[in-house]
Amino acid sequence: MATGVNRRGVLALTGAAAVAAAPASGAAQARPAAARFTQRPLPFDPKSVPGLSEKLLLSHHDNNYGSAVRKITAIEAELAGADPASLPGYRLGGLKREQLLALNSTVLHEAYFQSFGPAAPPSPALAAAIERDFGSMARWTAEFSAVGKSLGGASGWVFLVWSERDQRLLTQWAADHTMVSAGGRLLVALDMYEHAYQIDYGANAAGYVDAYMRALTWTHANAAFAQAQAIAAPT
Ligand SMILES: [Fe+2]
Repeated sequence: MATGVNRRGVLALTGAAAVAAAPASGAAQARPAAARFTQRPLPFDPKSVPGLSEKLLLSHHDNNYGSAVRKITAIEAELAGADPASLPGYRLGGLKREQLLALNSTVLHEAYFQSFGPAAPPSPALAAAIERDFGSMARWTAEFSAVGKSLGGASGWVFLVWSERDQRLLTQWAADHTMVSAGGRLLVALDMYEHAYQIDYGANAAGYVDAYMRALTWTHANAAFAQAQAIAAPT
């Protein structure tokens, strides 16, 4: 698996480092530029996912997830080296918008790749919650799949989230990386950007969704759900 930084990433990081290293003109520029983001390896064998090829998974991981990691790293460095009070509003606003997009893309892709690995069903606790909140596992599967297929030809995400406020599960649609449910704990993430399936499925988004649902393992969702259960609803 290639995990190196491509030329565009090198240029982006080099540019950001230059900005971060620029002499500070005031105390407001003293914020340290900590490298908080690293590209995590795939948490599964990319040869082992039924219905999704190694070529597709590696491309998605290295080109799209990797790009998000490189982008958030560069943006964080640029923000750390800047004096926010001296930046034009449009420049600071643009950086903050791109920061959110790149940060969420990083986090959401890491959740997506945790959909794959050794087969594991929903835990008894999560299965019970799915049955309570959706009627049945079959009903949730049908809803989640249909929402994914509704994004065919467009782009976005589908999530299964735990709402801390309502103490219930929710299937959530998102048109881009920034549309996450407020107070929601992410359990399952389905990437519906074309780069997630085009290599294997072309324009057949529905075929990709069906393959994803067959390959989905619940290991991560079970752990995240168990952690979420320890958090009381906000007052
Ligand atoms: Fe993606």
